[in-house]
Amino acid sequence: MPDPSPQQHVDGRVQAYYGGEFDESDRLVGRSGQGVLEFERTQQLVTARVSPGSRILDIGGAAGVHAAALAGRGHRVLLIDPVPRHVATARAIGTFAVARGDARALPVADHDFDAALLLGPLYHLVERDDRQRAWREAIRAVRPGGWVFGAGVSRLSALAWVTVIEPSIARAATGRRTPRSPMPERWRRMVEDGTGELGPSGFPGGHFHLSDDLEQEAVEAGLTEVQVLGLEGPGAQALDISRSHDPELLDAARRLAAAYESQPGLRDLSPHLLAFGRTPAG
Ligand SMILES: C[S@@+](CC[C@H](N)C(=O)[O-])C[C@H]1O[C@@H](n2cnc3c(N)ncnc32)[C@H](O)[C@@H]1O
Repeated sequence: MPDPSPQQHVDGRVQAYYGGEFDESDRLVGRSGQGVLEFERTQQLVTARVSPGSRILDIGGAAGVHAAALAGRGHRVLLIDPVPRHVATARAIGTFAVARGDARALPVADHDFDAALLLGPLYHLVERDDRQRAWREAIRAVRPGGWVFGAGVSRLSALAWVTVIEPSIARAATGRRTPRSPMPERWRRMVEDGTGELGPSGFPGGHFHLSDDLEQEAVEAGLTEVQVLGLEGPGAQALDISRSHDPELLDAARRLAAAYESQPGLRDLSPHLLAFGRTPAG
C-alpha cells in the first residue's frame, strides 16, 4: 500500500479525532468562555446578514450547535458533515435537516440556499486547491447575492499556543520541559506556509490561516464585499486555559475582541478568523 497523501492522512485523522478522541458538541457551549465568544460573535455576524426564514447550509456543522441556534430563530437549515458521530448527534436534535457529505463535493443543487457556513472544513484541507473547491462549492450552493461565511484557525494564535502557551502550562504544572519548547523543527512549515503538523495524534489541522490569506482565498473563489474579522480577540486563550466562564472576564475579553476585530495584524491574535462575503450577482 502506498503512503496516504497528506490530505488522506488528515481525512483519516478527522474521522478518528471527531469520531472518538474529542467531543465537538461541547466546544462552543461548555468548555470555556473562548467557545462562548466564538459562538456568540459568529451568530451575530450571520444573523445580521440573513433575512428571517432563510435557507442556510451549514457545511462541517459538526454536532449542530450553530444549526440548532439558527433553526431556533426560524431559519431552515441543512447541516452537512463527514463524521458519522456528528451526523447522528445533529440528527437527534430534530429541528433541522442533516446529511453526510464533504465540503469538496456537496450533495446539493445549485443556488438552493440564501447563505452557507463553512466553519471548519477550511482548516482541515491541506492544499489551497482543495480549499478553493470548498469555497466554490459553498458559492455554488447559494443564490446570487447571498452570503458565504468561512472560518480559519489563526496561524499566529495557534503557533503561540503550541510553541509557548501549552508548554508553559505543562511546565508550570510539572516543573519539566516538554519537547515542544522552544520552537522545534516540526512547526517550521506551519510558520512558513500554514501547513499543519500532520502527526499521528492531536488536532488534525491541515492549514492555519493568516487573515490576509483567508481574505485572498475568499476573493479568488468569487465572493464580493469580503471582510475578515478576528472572532474572540487576544484575551480568549486565557479563558480556555482557565476553563473560565466568569462573566467579568468574559466581558473584558469581549470588549478587547470588539476593539481589534478588524485591525490588520491585530485581528490575527484571535484564535478564529471569520471571512464573509456575497456571492456574485447572477
Ligand atoms: C472544529 S469543527 C467546527 C464545527 C462547527 N462548524 C463550529 O463552527 O463549531 C470542524 C468540523 O469540520 C468537519 N470537517 C472536516 N473535514 C471536512 C470536510 N472535508 N468537509 C466537510 N466538513 C469537514 C469536521 O467533521 C468538524 O465537524
